[in-house]
Amino acid sequence: MKELNLHIQVIVKQEDELTTQELALLDEARRATYRSYAPYSHFSVGAAVELADGTLVPGSNQENAAYPSGLCAERTAVFYAGSQYPDQPIRRLCIAARDTNGEFLPRPISPCGACRQVMLEAEQRAGQPIKVMLYGTEGIYFIHSIQDLLPLSFDDSFLS
Ligand code: THU
Repeated sequence: MKELNLHIQVIVKQEDELTTQELALLDEARRATYRSYAPYSHFSVGAAVELADGTLVPGSNQENAAYPSGLCAERTAVFYAGSQYPDQPIRRLCIAARDTNGEFLPRPISPCGACRQVMLEAEQRAGQPIKVMLYGTEGIYFIHSIQDLLPLSFDDSFLS
């Protein structure tokens, strides 16, 4: 028998410890929550990705009466970036969310499994780690790559 130990490091920062670039990305994600369309869950999520050339691309969750037809904020942003700027790799991604009372969550919001899978392929497409910022009013989690968020993942290497 052998054991595999998978380790991820999460750095926790406060807002006043962010660089100008990080703060700009966070602001973009927070602003995006106000463009969420969430009449069913009343849970407003905003995401923003930073491209290699510095462009910031926001996205928000877009719901639908046929619930599974809606899309999370992260995939909205990642797919929009891919469709609009196919030659610009994503370097960094930030997520923020407001609860049913309209308040930003104290605890950092964490992306769903389907979004992690999509973000993983964006990372592989980018050819280098996408840095992740998960916003909560009590602290911001910094994760070094999408791979860290989805260990033992399925990707196109299994298909060949
Ligand atoms: N949602 C996101 O947009 N991103 C996440 O990381 C988690 C969930 C959305 C989907 C749905 O519109 C609402 O939040 C409640 O699940």
